[in-house]
Amino acid sequence: MLKIVVLVSGGGTNLQAIINRAADGSLGDIKITSVISNNPGVKALDRAAQAGIPAEVVCPRDYADRAAFNDALLQTVRKTEPDLVVLAGFLVAIPPAMVQAFPNRIINIHPSLIPAFCGKGFYGLKVHEAVLARGVRVTGATVHFVDEGTDTGPILLQQAVRVEANDTPEILQRRVMEEAEWVILPQAISLIARGLVTVRDGRAIIGEDEK
Ligand code: GRF
Repeated sequence: MLKIVVLVSGGGTNLQAIINRAADGSLGDIKITSVISNNPGVKALDRAAQAGIPAEVVCPRDYADRAAFNDALLQTVRKTEPDLVVLAGFLVAIPPAMVQAFPNRIINIHPSLIPAFCGKGFYGLKVHEAVLARGVRVTGATVHFVDEGTDTGPILLQQAVRVEANDTPEILQRRVMEEAEWVILPQAISLIARGLVTVRDGRAIIGEDEK
């Protein structure tokens, strides 16, 4: 069984996609053991509660400084003894100590086709605002392994999404969520649960299904 802990910050729609696919058995032998949020009172926590998944809040405001928060976050994640850490709309920088504690065992969903529209300052609606401002015809989402950079780790899955003529950032964000994020994040978990993913020389390799 692949034990996963899901880190969230807000709406939790990506968490919900994982919950839904786990419930219908299409992710294979996985268990969401815990949800951790850096914000109290967010919808992602309601979604965890409705699914009967234990949740914890580790909020930066509750700590004297960033180092104390980073340590608390790492200890809280470690406590769940995860095989995989999933960042699902998690908007806090992952401390290097956590990346080192879980090498190639942390994945993130980013709402663009990395290396476009990613890195510092590119998150949530800001990504889609930049996409529309640049006038690209195609955007999408990326699941990547987390390294010590920002959106720089090995790319595992991507899904392209068309940009339409009258898109607003909100309309585009919704389409990217529906057609890309909510599809490839559960898919990535399923591949990892089936032991089909290895990271070699900084690249994620998806093996053939031996069965
Ligand atoms: C989404 O745009 C996602 O791509 C980004 O955070 C936003 C909210 O995600 N990572 P969620 O609804 O909290 O899963």
